[in-house]
Amino acid sequence: MNPALPAGYKQERKSGVNIAIVGSGYVGLVTGSCLAELGNKVICVDSDAKKIAALKKGIIPIFEPGLEELVINNTRKKRLSFITSIKDAVKGSEIIFIAVGTPPLENGEADLTGIENVARNIAINMASYRLIVEKSTVPVQTGKWVEHTISTYIKRKVKFDVASNPEFLREGSAISDFMHPDRIVIGVDSKRAGDILVNLYKPLNAPMVITNIKSAELIKHASNAFLATKISFINAISRICDQVGADVEEVAKGMGLDKRIGRSFLNAGAGYGGSCFPKDLDAFINISQNAGYNFELLRAVKKINQEQKRFLLKKIKDNLWIVKDKTIAVLGLAFKPDTDDIRSAPSLDLISALKQEGAFLRIYDPQAMKKAKEILPDVKFCKDSYEAARGADCLLVVTEWNEFKELDFAKIKKLLKRALIIDGRNIYDPAQVRKMGFTYVAIGRKGL
Ligand code: UDX
Repeated sequence: MNPALPAGYKQERKSGVNIAIVGSGYVGLVTGSCLAELGNKVICVDSDAKKIAALKKGIIPIFEPGLEELVINNTRKKRLSFITSIKDAVKGSEIIFIAVGTPPLENGEADLTGIENVARNIAINMASYRLIVEKSTVPVQTGKWVEHTISTYIKRKVKFDVASNPEFLREGSAISDFMHPDRIVIGVDSKRAGDILVNLYKPLNAPMVITNIKSAELIKHASNAFLATKISFINAISRICDQVGADVEEVAKGMGLDKRIGRSFLNAGAGYGGSCFPKDLDAFINISQNAGYNFELLRAVKKINQEQKRFLLKKIKDNLWIVKDKTIAVLGLAFKPDTDDIRSAPSLDLISALKQEGAFLRIYDPQAMKKAKEILPDVKFCKDSYEAARGADCLLVVTEWNEFKELDFAKIKKLLKRALIIDGRNIYDPAQVRKMGFTYVAIGRKGL
């Protein structure tokens, strides 16, 4: 039995469903391979022929623990295949998930060109009933537009339904998040569509919220916005902690034990990044504005997140005084651990600010350096944390990778020019590192 499967679920389910997933990015690929693992027959579609050719060979374009194994196993078992033609995918699939990107436009709104394109393509190729499911994070009302587009371009007189089934998976734990979700949100406007999706997800044994399409779309936005709010809230508290000499970790612990609050997403640090929170927050602020509501709370959440990066920069300056010509060892590029994703990563803003000040940067990240090399000239990429620390005036932690938590501090101390650690993720025990002779600066922990 594959440990990725929920308890009590037998892998070899007799009746799988034929599914097409359009868009083989993060969400599409994880959704496709997990649904195949559950015994369905899944075709993943992407217009990028190079990506599809690589996936056919089991080469995964992203780093996600467990994903490669799922893709290779399910391809071998002929439950998972990859093609570039939407037409062929639509032909034999009862359920079609749309998981294409919705990148931000300059004004913060989501660009829905990809979704509209796919909807038109599905419409002209549908020969019998199809359920079209939005999986990408989209503005409320997109479901209506998808339905309208399909009705407008449909060629044959066939029935179809549209549904919204937002995905809540996190990078780095995406497979487990998919297989063991806190809840499954199913937004439908017909019983037939609801029954199909309930049946599809039954094996996961998770609570299901069955609602209308617009509410499902809003659940996704509201959830991400709320999580970002929690992070900015604790980051704001960290600023006060620094001022008054309190410890933000203790404050978060004390708050988090209240079941109504919960401890998760109360980790103060360098701010949130990634492909979702920054983009989704902008989109939601826009959606609210268009709906006639000025969501000032979310504007503040965004502002606090931007300020948090400057707060960390100020700490570096407060300790190094002059940054020009200093060498800084930067540990961590990815926007969070267990991913190679550097999209909107706080590390990038910090690196750019430090470079502007004239610092030399020695950088190490366990997974994200390949991607960073494409966009970061004039920095030294190192083979490990120790090489990065060699001759540096300061060790700056930006991502909380486990391997940074287990550094050999005696070795690090010998390698550094000056025993200064600036911990942008509060991963070390202040007493322990100070005992070893380091000057230790963290976020909201002046009280320790
Ligand atoms: C997020 C949502 O969690 C997920 O449900 C949604 O589907 C996509 O967006 P993801 O972006 O993969 O997932 O990462 P997540 O683990 O949520 O972290 C987002 C950012 O917040 C990271 O930069 C992380 O470092 C930061 N973060 C998270 C904090 O700074 N403090 C915390 O306490 C938690």
